[in-house]
Amino acid sequence: MTLPDDLARFVRATGPDHDPIQQEMADYADEHGFPTIGPGPGAVLRLLARLTAAESVFEFGSGYGYSASWFARGMDAGEIVLTEFDADELDMGRDFLARGDYAPDFAFVHGDAVAAVDDYDGPFDLVLIDHQKERYAEAFGKVREKVRPGGVVVADNVVAGPIDFPALVDYVAEGTGLPEDDDETAGIAHYLDTVRGDDAFETTVLPVGEGIAVSNRIE
Ligand SMILES: C[S@@+](CC[C@H](N)C(=O)[O-])C[C@H]1O[C@@H](n2cnc3c(N)ncnc32)[C@H](O)[C@@H]1O
Repeated sequence: MTLPDDLARFVRATGPDHDPIQQEMADYADEHGFPTIGPGPGAVLRLLARLTAAESVFEFGSGYGYSASWFARGMDAGEIVLTEFDADELDMGRDFLARGDYAPDFAFVHGDAVAAVDDYDGPFDLVLIDHQKERYAEAFGKVREKVRPGGVVVADNVVAGPIDFPALVDYVAEGTGLPEDDDETAGIAHYLDTVRGDDAFETTVLPVGEGIAVSNRIE
């Protein structure tokens, strides 16, 4: 379940257009069925980059750079670290982002995102979690101390994508059990429990795209 069609169209129509490189990326996603974060959440990434005056961003799961391009559109300087275990996607990202009109530098890390974050001390202004759903909480656990106070962690796919959303609703609203053998829904449930139970962060779910959980570090 995502936004009702007319509301999703409205958000899209009132939101920012793709730049030319993003349009190429979006066309590729349509053609190949690649699951980018999409323009609704992308516009939120740009907004957060502006609001935090972001200069340091880390992504868990970057694909070919679509989400990074949205962060970049809200930044005047700094660096975005992209992580991806598919080397071909990362190469595409290098090409797309080099051809775009973006201010920050990009660092491309090939390999496991959750291992890669160990090589960075932060502080990060913004973090995107968009890799394996069953490892979201693990990623958050590793990065939370590296997010500066006032910084924000965004996690994608909390209302749709590879998850059983009705079961997730019952779990969070009624406390019912989760389906067995569904690691992705369990991963999102565990992630939401983790960030909502962390006193250093305030978390709000925004139902744009496939749903993002936005967690602001307050202490
Ligand atoms: C849903 S896609 C989103 C990509 C990007 N954030 C975007 O919006 O276009 C997730 C990507 O994460 C990559 N991925 C999944 N688990 C990963 C991991 N542990 N380390 C690095 N990349 C990973 C996948 O190969 C895939 O390209």
